[in-house]
Amino acid sequence: MTNPFLDSIINQLVSLTGLPADELRSIVQGPPDVKKGDYAFPCFVLAKKERKNPAELASELAGEFQPDAYIERAEPAGPYLNFFVHRKACIEHVLGCIHEQGEDFGNLNAGEGNTIVIDYSSPNIAKPLGVHHLCSTMIGNSLYRIFKALGYRVVGVNHLGDWGTQFGVLLGAYKRWGDSLSEKTVNGLVELYVRYSDEMKEDEALGEEAREWFRKLENGDETARALWEEFREISLDEFKRIYERLGVQFDSFAGESFYNERIDATVERIQEAGLATISQDALVVDLEDYDMPPCILRKSDDASLYATRDLAGIQYRKETYDFEKVLYVVGADQRLHFRQLFKVMELLGDEVAAKCFHVDFGLVLFHDPEVGGWAKGSTRKGNLELLEDVLDRAAELALQIIEENEKKMDFVDSKEEIAEAVAIAAVCFGILCKSRQKDVKFDWDEILSFRGKTGPYLQYAHARQASILRKYGKKVTGEVDLGRLDDPEEFELAMWLSVFPRAVEKAAAEFEPSCIANYLLDLAAVYSRYSQDSVRHKILSDDEELTAARVLLVSCVRTVLQKGLYLLGIIAPEQM
Ligand code: ARG
Repeated sequence: MTNPFLDSIINQLVSLTGLPADELRSIVQGPPDVKKGDYAFPCFVLAKKERKNPAELASELAGEFQPDAYIERAEPAGPYLNFFVHRKACIEHVLGCIHEQGEDFGNLNAGEGNTIVIDYSSPNIAKPLGVHHLCSTMIGNSLYRIFKALGYRVVGVNHLGDWGTQFGVLLGAYKRWGDSLSEKTVNGLVELYVRYSDEMKEDEALGEEAREWFRKLENGDETARALWEEFREISLDEFKRIYERLGVQFDSFAGESFYNERIDATVERIQEAGLATISQDALVVDLEDYDMPPCILRKSDDASLYATRDLAGIQYRKETYDFEKVLYVVGADQRLHFRQLFKVMELLGDEVAAKCFHVDFGLVLFHDPEVGGWAKGSTRKGNLELLEDVLDRAAELALQIIEENEKKMDFVDSKEEIAEAVAIAAVCFGILCKSRQKDVKFDWDEILSFRGKTGPYLQYAHARQASILRKYGKKVTGEVDLGRLDDPEEFELAMWLSVFPRAVEKAAAEFEPSCIANYLLDLAAVYSRYSQDSVRHKILSDDEELTAARVLLVSCVRTVLQKGLYLLGIIAPEQM
């Protein structure tokens, strides 16, 4: 949807200030506080440029501003220029759009014809999913949905860590003791791996054996290959079970092994460009000039590395998808790795370097009574670090809360189903509501609360609205007299609804699902203030016209809440 109110402001500001429209769009705020204004233009940047006082500039601009069909007036307030939209026009426009577009509201066409590749989750096989994979998985999943809403073709890639010398260790271990495994699970594989690694420390021969197995794997030896495929299958089965629980999907599982046959070409390209040197028997790209350690391409035994496979991956993705951007949703601990990769691409003179982004994030921390503070969860201390354990614990706690509040709730799905939906929402929202670079502190009471700034709170608000619409019993129609929505709070709600597409746009521009999460909290808070005044704002009353208008408003809020939650990867049950 275009927003003619904002467009009108931007158009006039372009001619009044001479600043480009894109820049103005990012500067203009709104709604800061509808009592003071619906949109605001902070004058600081322009004032600095023109060497003027921001407050004087605001007054000047206000004097020159021409009211039109969308904007009633502009007023200076200190260094800000505040705009007031025509309230009735705004309500009509936004409720009309949302009613007509339904769940398509918030979709834009900025990305049409372009492709974005998102590399997310990307765990290592033969290891269980850890809680740290939650951030990559959920941030990536949300960005996937956000860019789809912007009209992009999005390719979601799970760059599985399914190659590397560690598989030599696992093969060696499996060959020795594989028969002793009671069941073939990821945990079983981990046990074998740990046992072999431990014994390897004492016994040189085992190390050599492991290297030999990896060589065999790289050279396509049948036994090695068949076993490795089995490890991959076992792992993927487990991963997929958890992805299903989280509602997460991928278009491709092309992991590190996929690039094996492209390693030679990748290394040759770098050598031909004169970038590769030998250092301590390894083939590297020296990055000293850029204050980074060398990027290692091949070890002394010729084996490729994580970075080599990523370099091959960039080239493959470029050829296959012709992307506008590729996003690597990976923890901040790999910052150096990505800086090195992108620098090598840049040194190759490849324009793709400017299209690669490392979308990093902080840690997930749990309260650790032993340390008396926040710590990375560890199984040993009885804290949780496995992703599945965290989800199970959340579901268990959610079920308890639901059972305690059963009387206040009304649901048709089983308690367990609602508990699962609430649990996933709590965990996802707990991660997505913070700027992604901040550490996430998981406090169970906090993230599961139906009252705080949480996923369950938003789900509950949505379910209450759905319940009002069910009680209304009739089809919601757009043919209502919107002049009846003349309370300032009703306008305030409409104003918030109208800026939802902006939140989506901002989330995409900053790779920040939290922009949508925070928007939804604001919207829900405004709605909650509105609906708590149940005398003035009784939705279903004997006044049929007023009821029809208010029902339309509630229906639009519900639509936007549902869509926003969807973009975060959270389902919004109709009843709970
Ligand atoms: N497998 C890696 C890990 O678990 C993450 C891979 C991220 N993606 C990439 N293209 N490097 O740490």
